[in-house]
Amino acid sequence: MRRSLVVGNWKMHGSAASIDTLVTGLQQQLANLPADQTDIAVCPPFVFIPQVISQLEGSAIACGAQNVSDQQEGAYTGEISATMLAELGCQYVIVGHSERRTLMAESDADIAAKFTAVQSQGLTPILCVGESLAQREAGETLSWIEQQIKAVIAVAGIEAMAASVIAYEPIWAIGTGKTASPEQAQEVHAHIRQVLANESQAVAGALQLLYGGSVKADNAAELFGKQDIDGALVGGAALKAADFAAICMAA
Ligand code: G3H
Repeated sequence: MRRSLVVGNWKMHGSAASIDTLVTGLQQQLANLPADQTDIAVCPPFVFIPQVISQLEGSAIACGAQNVSDQQEGAYTGEISATMLAELGCQYVIVGHSERRTLMAESDADIAAKFTAVQSQGLTPILCVGESLAQREAGETLSWIEQQIKAVIAVAGIEAMAASVIAYEPIWAIGTGKTASPEQAQEVHAHIRQVLANESQAVAGALQLLYGGSVKADNAAELFGKQDIDGALVGGAALKAADFAAICMAA
């Protein structure tokens, strides 16, 4: 039986004051969530990670980062290493979010390198995959997702996937209010699990597989009701404590 996991990706939002309010609200709203039910994490912008980790001390809510360098150290101006994130106390790092693939031109090779850099420091990568609307309409969704996952397996190895999380995020559903139907999401999730199962049944059975793309308090339960959907990677709705808490409760 897989535990569920809900991750809030705050993207480039917030200030010290608004994040203080958000974390305080989350701790209040989630105080009654049974600890053995759901894993919860939030991924603030880098500069707010120390503040959030300090605020979350003693809480079951974990902290993650939204990005990382594929290098461990050196002359890489503006970059943040997995070693630094581990020292701060992060537990997760999002890699391969479609906004980085698209806006920052991150390739499958870059993402695989980040994935291994994260794991080398004992952190858990949350590998994001997803198709564009054009790819979906062309019937290329499953083959595209498979290719994105196999690009990481080719570098990291199938056993490494056991210590990771995969988030399926159709690009056309991110921030658009247009959620994939539970059936559409389940179809892709089942395919991802099959791709993994072809190499290792054990890895496929254990891996937490999240859906992301306009997840809200009022559509979460239906998505989580699907067999292969173990939780969510939440953007917009993660910025309001009550909304995020409701999604966590549904998981
Ligand atoms: O990382 C989160 C996703 O990009 C989903 O964002 O919930 O605002 O659609 P959204």
